[in-house]
Amino acid sequence: MRALAAAAALVFLAGCSGRHNWLAGAGEEARSVETLFWVILTGAGVIWALVIGAATYAHRAEAKPHREREARRFIVWGGVILPVLVVGGLLVWGLLILRDITADDGALTVRVDGERWWWRVIYETPEGPVTTANEIRLPLGERALFKLTADDVIHSFWVPALGGKMDMIPGRETELALTPRKLGNWGGLCAEFCGGAHALMRFDAVVMEPDDFARWLEHEARPAQVAEGDRGLVVFDEEGCGACHAIRGTEARGAVGPDLTHLASRDKLGAGIYAMTPENMARWITDTHEMKPEIDMPAYPGLQGERLDALVGFLMSLE
Ligand code: CUA
Repeated sequence: MRALAAAAALVFLAGCSGRHNWLAGAGEEARSVETLFWVILTGAGVIWALVIGAATYAHRAEAKPHREREARRFIVWGGVILPVLVVGGLLVWGLLILRDITADDGALTVRVDGERWWWRVIYETPEGPVTTANEIRLPLGERALFKLTADDVIHSFWVPALGGKMDMIPGRETELALTPRKLGNWGGLCAEFCGGAHALMRFDAVVMEPDDFARWLEHEARPAQVAEGDRGLVVFDEEGCGACHAIRGTEARGAVGPDLTHLASRDKLGAGIYAMTPENMARWITDTHEMKPEIDMPAYPGLQGERLDALVGFLMSLE
């Protein structure tokens, strides 16, 4: 029995390590939620012990009548006043945390739209919006305010290691602040069932030194470096990829799918699920729905040989 409990605990705790670990202390907001968690867990333990103690006493004690006033006082204090104080106190504390993590005072504003099943990411900068997808980068120690919405169904934006989660609702804008306290590539995911590829709707949240972040954002704002007459770009145009995808600096201005201007500088492919390698890129184009079922992008199984190589080479050059 004890071995079974230990095994169950191990399986449970295995979810609490690595890049999705919400106990990693990697974000200011995650820490405030963590404190609340430990207080609730400890408080629940104390209340559980009290209830078990009372039950044991009732079971063991000699059966003798209690005075009615005493019994009523016990019920009023133990059954009404104590729960109201405990639950009310936690509610107020929770609301204060919620106010903190949604306050509109971030140094950096990032809009994220939930799409089926990927993330449209737009940094608001004094020079204008900078669009990317499926990866967010954040400067260490600076508060970033996320403005969240969704295209057609409800998603939920969550980087467990950095902070709380927030629903993304079509036609509405919700807000969430994240203040990273540890460098690293933290995992983000969709925390609300949103259809077939929900479990494959992920992203990377990369926390960088502020200088590196500023350089990255500046680079991200620039158009793509594409050689005149690039064979891969020709294939990209001929296959009509630009109807859905934008590559700034080229004719491709589609807004349906992810912006590809600096695609190859992202760590992952397919909204946080595959390594960004030429092999995965080629498969993504030809066997799209084996890689990620139900997505809108059509597969191009007929694209093979030299044309596929040229296209993959071109996409992998978009750094
Ligand atoms: Cu998007 Cu679940």
